[in-house]
Amino acid sequence: MDKIGLFYGTYTGITGMIAEKIADELGRDNVDLHNICCDGEQMDKYDKLIIGTSTWSIGELQEDWDNFMPKLQTMHFEGKTVALFGTGDQVGYPDTFLDGMGMLYETFQFRGAKFIGFWPTVGYDFTSPLPLLDHDHFVGLAIDEDNQSDLTDERIKKWCEQIRPAFGLKAKD
Ligand SMILES: Cc1cc2nc3c(=O)[nH]c(=O)nc-3n(C[C@H](O)[C@H](O)[C@H](O)COP(=O)(O)O)c2cc1C
Repeated sequence: MDKIGLFYGTYTGITGMIAEKIADELGRDNVDLHNICCDGEQMDKYDKLIIGTSTWSIGELQEDWDNFMPKLQTMHFEGKTVALFGTGDQVGYPDTFLDGMGMLYETFQFRGAKFIGFWPTVGYDFTSPLPLLDHDHFVGLAIDEDNQSDLTDERIKKWCEQIRPAFGLKAKD
């Protein structure tokens, strides 16, 4: 089976830690973990992708993703399946909560990606429109380690269950 390429950008390590947890949940044999700071060139070889970012500087994409953007804007994702996740702080930055995830959604969508893993907005309190698919859904998994770390493991577990079939993985026992 084709492996899933999980590419993440992280500044203080939170998104990296969430990436590790997602890989554990989906099974380490099924996922190759890549930090976008150094491994971005490898994205081409995967048809199944998980993409994760934090948001910094009040609505800015995480720096390593930002540096990779010129390359990303030349890549093609037709026929590829992408699941997104974002980390942010809805209390400190409600107007720009998870904007980075929204920016990556726009870029991958423009370049032909098909998305899975939309996530309900119930249980979050924020006003930013960018990470939203519609009124009731984020474009990907929303993680807030700053304020809701007690919910993180359960959210990851549920989301991974949700995306497994589309990535050709059997449900966990
Ligand atoms: C100066 C500063 C600006 C931030 N700006 C945002 C923001 O605009 N939106 C958001 O959702 N989170 C924001 N955050 C919160 C981080 O995205 C959050 O702590 C995240 O988990 C960090 O993940 P990382 O260590 O993987 O980069 C900000 C944090 C700091 C300290």
